[in-house]
Amino acid sequence: MRSDGESLSGQKMGLCDRKAPSLPSPVLLFLSPLLLLLLGSLWLAGAADIPLGSALSPLNSSSWSSPSGTYSLGFVSDPQNTSLYLAAITYSGGVPVWTAGGGASVDSAASFQLRSDGNLRLVDGSGTVVWESGTAGKGVSAASLLDTGEFELKNSTAVVWDTFAHPTDTILQSQNFTVGQTLHSGDYSFSLLANGNLTLTWNDSIVYFNKGFNSTFTANKTLASPFLTLQSNGIISLSDASLSTAVVISYSSDYGESGDMIRFVKLDSDGNLRTYSAVRGSGITNERWSAVADQCEVFGWCGNMGICSYNDTSPVCGCPSENFNFVDPNDHRKGCKRRTEIQNCPGNSTMLTLDNTKFLTYPPEISTEQFFVGITACRLNCLSGVSCVASTALADGSGFCYLKVSNFVSGYESAALPSTSFVKVCAPALPNSPSTLDEVHSSKLKGWVVAVLIFGTLLGMILFEWGLWWCFCRNSTKYGPLSAHYALLEYASGAPVQFSYRELQKSTKRFKEKLGEGGFGAVYKGVLANRTMVAVKQLEGIEQGEKQFRMEVATISSTHHLNLVRLIGFCSEGRHRLLVYEFMKNGSLDSFLFSGDSSRKLTWATRFSVAVGTARGITYLHEECRDCIVHCDIKPENILLDENYNAKVSDFGLAKLVNPKDHRQRTLTSVRGTRGYLAPEWLANLPITSKSDVYSYGMVLLEIVSGRRNFDVSDDTDRKKFSVWAYEEFEKGNIRSIMDKRLAEQDVDMEQLERAVLVSFWCIQEQPSQRPSMGKVVQMLEGVLDVERPPAPKVMDVGLAVVTSSSVSTSVAVFATSASIQPLSSSSQSNTNSSSISRRNVEKQTSSLLSKDLSS
Ligand SMILES: *[C@@H]1O[C@H](CO)[C@@H](O)[C@H](O)[C@H]1NC(C)=O
Ligand SMILES: *[C@@H]1O[C@H](CO)[C@@H](O)[C@H](O)[C@H]1NC(C)=O
Ligand SMILES: *[C@@H]1O[C@H](CO)[C@@H](O)[C@H](O)[C@H]1NC(C)=O
Ligand SMILES: *[C@@H]1O[C@H](CO)[C@@H](O)[C@H](O)[C@H]1NC(C)=O
Ligand SMILES: *[C@@H]1O[C@H](CO)[C@@H](O)[C@H](O)[C@H]1NC(C)=O
Ligand SMILES: *[C@@H]1O[C@H](CO)[C@@H](O)[C@H](O)[C@H]1NC(C)=O
Ligand SMILES: *[C@@H]1O[C@H](CO)[C@@H](O)[C@H](O)[C@H]1NC(C)=O
Repeated sequence: MRSDGESLSGQKMGLCDRKAPSLPSPVLLFLSPLLLLLLGSLWLAGAADIPLGSALSPLNSSSWSSPSGTYSLGFVSDPQNTSLYLAAITYSGGVPVWTAGGGASVDSAASFQLRSDGNLRLVDGSGTVVWESGTAGKGVSAASLLDTGEFELKNSTAVVWDTFAHPTDTILQSQNFTVGQTLHSGDYSFSLLANGNLTLTWNDSIVYFNKGFNSTFTANKTLASPFLTLQSNGIISLSDASLSTAVVISYSSDYGESGDMIRFVKLDSDGNLRTYSAVRGSGITNERWSAVADQCEVFGWCGNMGICSYNDTSPVCGCPSENFNFVDPNDHRKGCKRRTEIQNCPGNSTMLTLDNTKFLTYPPEISTEQFFVGITACRLNCLSGVSCVASTALADGSGFCYLKVSNFVSGYESAALPSTSFVKVCAPALPNSPSTLDEVHSSKLKGWVVAVLIFGTLLGMILFEWGLWWCFCRNSTKYGPLSAHYALLEYASGAPVQFSYRELQKSTKRFKEKLGEGGFGAVYKGVLANRTMVAVKQLEGIEQGEKQFRMEVATISSTHHLNLVRLIGFCSEGRHRLLVYEFMKNGSLDSFLFSGDSSRKLTWATRFSVAVGTARGITYLHEECRDCIVHCDIKPENILLDENYNAKVSDFGLAKLVNPKDHRQRTLTSVRGTRGYLAPEWLANLPITSKSDVYSYGMVLLEIVSGRRNFDVSDDTDRKKFSVWAYEEFEKGNIRSIMDKRLAEQDVDMEQLERAVLVSFWCIQEQPSQRPSMGKVVQMLEGVLDVERPPAPKVMDVGLAVVTSSSVSTSVAVFATSASIQPLSSSSQSNTNSSSISRRNVEKQTSSLLSKDLSS
């Protein structure tokens, strides 16, 4: 109440300041009681309307509040420069959710005016109009700030202008973000396309994130006017008149948690779109989801010529080599510039080679300057091209070479990237150097002194540490000579760590403690030098080349989700291919479901949360991550439980990757799956899609409910396969007989259990098209979607139906040589044609280039 009164008097002050010179004082004297009366009556009516002629100023820190005080509009100091101000709507505690003019900063003499002509204006101290709503003469009679955070200008009947229709960088909970609206932050923008795709764009030209959420909901539908909403439970969803239910786009990590807080979606100045939550009054925001999992994939994050890479904890920006300086040594994100520009060394330029680096390749560049050539030709092509500044040989088996002719290039370096890149510089090409030394180099003399000092100190420290080690630790196996190296590493970043075979041999004590034997090889327990417990998987029968393997490692490690086991690192040395995963304390689900061990028991609530968690993990693989992955081997052995019994799916991405962007035909030489969980299409030589995982998941779900293998045959089940018998019992209405006997004496939510049983029968339908998508499975389990009565799942008895429980976990290799994972689309045909033409052209070009090179 009091704060309302204060803000009213603030408005009045502003009003008098503005109007006094232009109005004769008797008129003012006559009007003011009337005005006060008017204000008073409006205020009493509870509308909290802001009358025309009101103004705010940074000096008296006046503000306009929403009725409950949740949001307020006023000046806040600019985080970039604290002597300047922004006119912003802030959530309780000072979290800005909208700024006038998209973050335009003004001085302390500025004002924010709701003018008598209905225009809303931000005016600088000098009188310059910084921003305006453009609503003059549109009959605006008042404004108000609502408890949803929306500020609106209205006439007597309708809203004329509002901040939800003119967002800056944030989308609030009750806001609809429609096609045609854009969030801006620096050079970056976010928008929704008419087909429902979400896009992130740099400088209005390079689209570095374009993702369609084409689940069964959107398939074969033309959207009318889609819009995004952030639901109060933390789900971002896409709605449209043509969709019966909203399509889930992302879950925030605190999904479903409630409290006195808000969630919002924001386009950050680093080009990533994130969901945040903020508790009322705290002013603190917590990140809950980000659209681009790998920050280094954001175009231009490190500025022009900047190279993004990961230090132990975060993405960092560096320069390609000592041929470059930082544009701003205090802000590495501003990019790098050549010490000598190319035009200043005519005829003497060369290509600097950057291993494990790519220059980010996004449309439209991708479509114009793309060739099939080898590494050497990729380098020479760029060297001889006058406008070419850099090139990337992808080396992932595609043979692509991208030439960068634009004057802005953005690099990404990681041990897991198979690409090699080249940048044109003035000769000679200097060595790559750690970014910190780059700055020191600016003054050569000082540089030498510092270098000698650093070297001396390092030497002293090494001697000292070596002395310590010699005295105390030389007999302990825990601290090998490698520990000094690892003390620096924390394995916490998103980038996978590359290990040598020797290191892994050591950390697993020569592969002593075997945790299990999966379809791809044995898994051993290990302890890294920093004492992180890990599971080391020794891959067998991987015939891929080094580069292809690194590509897949890069894909797997860029796939982060609460319900997926995280890849920490890898080893690729000679014939050895190993993957290092985080260690899961409680082991795999099968040991809980099928062992007689009474200490390994799960309550129904835990089982259900494992079922939902697993479904979420698989949904992420299928629908939400960048390169969609079909798991191909979902079974209880591949569902691990951490110390809090959170389900984590493991072994994903090891079967062939299915990349919808990649139209080239992939042939499956050998696919692996496990009996009992294999979908019928594996055996019938039909295309394998994400629906095959749904089938396997359905079997697992049934096992979670029943605590028995789905293919168990016993007297209890009338000598029928358990899954077949279970459906018959379900038809008779005997859900309880399907339930695990060990759950009998527990409190079981029968409604939940029945839902799980119904969902499992839907998942194991013979026809892939009849099975729901994993996203839908999650919604059905959670009760968001109603589950209809499933038809009987037919029994597929192709060869493998007679399975005895003795062969439970042996994996079988199914040879399906011609089954392509994705049906070839017609466009890929024409693609191949045009690319073979360009390949021929380029080969011609290259050979002439090479001969020119030799003769000169
Ligand atoms: C109020 O604004 C709406 C939308 O701009 C317009 O259709 C309507 O005629 C206006 N009403 C009055 C009374 O001006
Ligand atoms: C958002 O869209 C829904 C459905 O069309 C509508 O009911 C709701 O009023 C809209 N919200 C806003 C703030 O426009
Ligand atoms: C952004 O785009 C504009 C126009 O397309 C261009 O003039 C400008 O140079 C670009 N900015 C950068 C940093 O490349
Ligand atoms: C929508 O996104 C998908 C990737 O998810 C992409 O293949 C498709 O080309 C995009 N569509 C448009 C019109 O950008
Ligand atoms: C979904 O995919 C189908 C083909 O798989 C395509 O015809 C349809 O246009 C896509 N829908 C959207 C919204 O992208
Ligand atoms: C990694 O980079 C971040 C951001 O620049 C920095 O705060 C952090 O100290 C760096 N960590 C190490 C180990 O260098
Ligand atoms: C090219 O650069 C090298 C190394 O700086 C130098 O020795 C050589 O003279 C230069 N050649 C020309 C033609 O400028």
